[in-house]
Amino acid sequence: MDYNRILVTAALPYANGPVHIGHMAGVYVPADIYVRYQRQQKRDVQFVCGSDEHGVPITIRAMKEGVTPQQIVDKYHAIIKESFEQMGISFDIYSRTSNKLHHETAAGFFKKLYDDGLFEEKETEQYYDEKAKTFLADRYIVGTCPVCANANAYGDQCEKCGSTLSPEQLINPRSALSDAVPVKKKTKHWYFPLQNYEAWLKEWIIDGHKDWKNNVYGQCKSWLDSGLQSRAMTRDSNWGIKVPLPEAEGKVLYVWFDAPIGYISATKELTGKWADYWCKEDTKLVHFIGKDNIVFHCIIFPAMLRAHGNFVLPDNVPANEFLNIEGDKVSTSRNWAVWVDQYLKDFPGSEDVLRYVLCANAPETKDNDFTWKDFQDRNNNELASIFGNFVNRTWVLMHKLCGGKVPRLHEDILDDDDKWIIDEIKKSKVNIENLIEEYKFRDSLYEVIDLSRKGNQYMQKKEPWIKAKKMTDDGPGSKAAQKEVDNCLHLCLQLTANLAILANPFLPHTAKKMLHMMKVVDKMLDWENAGKIKLLSVGYSLRAPELLFKKIEDDEIRTQIEKLKSGLTKKEEAKMEPAKTGAENQHSDTNKPEIVYDDFAKLDLRVGTVITCKKVEKADKLLKLTIDLGAETRTIVSGIALHYNSSEMIGKQVVVVVNLAPRKMKGIESQGMILTAEDKDGKLRLLKPEEAVIPGSSVS
Ligand code: 2FM
Ligand code: ZN
Repeated sequence: MDYNRILVTAALPYANGPVHIGHMAGVYVPADIYVRYQRQQKRDVQFVCGSDEHGVPITIRAMKEGVTPQQIVDKYHAIIKESFEQMGISFDIYSRTSNKLHHETAAGFFKKLYDDGLFEEKETEQYYDEKAKTFLADRYIVGTCPVCANANAYGDQCEKCGSTLSPEQLINPRSALSDAVPVKKKTKHWYFPLQNYEAWLKEWIIDGHKDWKNNVYGQCKSWLDSGLQSRAMTRDSNWGIKVPLPEAEGKVLYVWFDAPIGYISATKELTGKWADYWCKEDTKLVHFIGKDNIVFHCIIFPAMLRAHGNFVLPDNVPANEFLNIEGDKVSTSRNWAVWVDQYLKDFPGSEDVLRYVLCANAPETKDNDFTWKDFQDRNNNELASIFGNFVNRTWVLMHKLCGGKVPRLHEDILDDDDKWIIDEIKKSKVNIENLIEEYKFRDSLYEVIDLSRKGNQYMQKKEPWIKAKKMTDDGPGSKAAQKEVDNCLHLCLQLTANLAILANPFLPHTAKKMLHMMKVVDKMLDWENAGKIKLLSVGYSLRAPELLFKKIEDDEIRTQIEKLKSGLTKKEEAKMEPAKTGAENQHSDTNKPEIVYDDFAKLDLRVGTVITCKKVEKADKLLKLTIDLGAETRTIVSGIALHYNSSEMIGKQVVVVVNLAPRKMKGIESQGMILTAEDKDGKLRLLKPEEAVIPGSSVS
């Protein structure tokens, strides 16, 4: 089938936390590579995404932070959007599912299926919290895990041992909202009978899409082989898109019903021609997703589109597997993750390095591992030493030996090496485009680096710096040497121009710098220019070289590893320390049970003055303080290093819990705890008396 337009969607991330590098590697970097390449091909392509702002994860997060779901989605939508922008993920639109247009579109979609009689109505018994007067999704029910005895397992899963559970299996189940024991209550919902689409889905996928990736095809086949069942498309909740039926008070659309419709709403918001992209047969629709989303994009959403009618179906769903970190599965609850917003702060200007590493190591066919050491090696040994080095050598030599201008190509003396590199440039273009069209981004990126490696080989063979020595002789060899130097640098410059085009889908920030060095406009990046060796005109003067990639030092890597590891213990530390960091812990104490005065009186709180303060080595967040408490001095380790410098702490008065059992942190015994409160930006502020008091004064 010949397509006339392409619509690329990338999974809508839940706006309940920032995005991490697993999301980037699995979905957004590959999608962006594909789209940038299609744009360079001058094809009609639109790239849509947005925040997924409904569903249980958002409400849980809101509950944990003691704020409203709207506040949660507003906060994370902004953070996620900013991360994508900085990483160069070039969406044509990044929308959000709390938009009015999306609510109307999704409700309209539901209503059409309802009016066509395509839902089944069923009354079932579900858990209900009589205190909070609300039905409870499985996630809202907590209790003791029957497998590992974790006291805080969820009704659908135990995060400690990983068991999949149902609320009935929990020992002492209670509502996460109110602590009440949940009871069963009848409720009506609308179910979509997926089994009615089974035969059609089998034909469409099993017979018709053998071209899909093995992991995707295999997962679909196993779902279809085990038989499909009706699935509830509505939920009892007050956060989400209201079910557009008069009898559906307190019910919203299931998040997996509304979220994929978000792709349609975002396209509507983007262009008046949205229906061309969604309804015309000659559209190629491609969904980029992670493997946990396969069933929704390959089975449920296509069945919904088919039921509705008039919509195109995905041509491909190139889902990736998962990216582990340092040998362990990403876990947001354990904070075992590399957050993109954090990375961007720690490595400013190195967006392309992350894009490169995540693509070179992408989990395209199986789960893969990200390690900081590999990140460093790939930057230092591939980007800096091969790609960056080739471009830099070319530029430096061109300025030194050719007066900063593109030298002539003397066709009469072209030798086999020259012909070889010209040929390699042409071959790379063809290989890269074929691989991108097949969604093999790792292999295609390898081709880009390999071409720059060949550039280095070519230059090494030609040794223009040796020939340059002859150029200064007066003898007859001088002219010939200049011609050879000209040819070498001419071809290296043309190769650099080609590298900018070929690398642009992967390394857009770098390609931009290269355009600047070459003093050429974006138009040069058109894919049709790749493979040509007449991109830079003879005599054209070029700018000075820019550093494309700088080496990453060992201590930068050590810091990241420490940071990752300290995140792991964050939760345990948070139990002891008021010094909470990260949004997850904000306001988490809003639901603590009531206590009597005697409970409060057990705390021995005193005011102390900080005498010394030092950062704890290899711990980003910890300060070690000595505190004068009048009758004694104490050593306290506090997790406030991200909020206060050690020097500014000296002399400050603080409130200390002095009768807390001592606890070791990073090998240092902390003999108490300093009290802080969090401000609106998540910064910790010390609690202190309004005016200085005598050290040791008790707080009551
Ligand atoms: O898994 C997730 O993060 C979902 N929020 C993806 C939704 S993709 C689409 F359907 F919107
Ligand atoms: Zn368990």
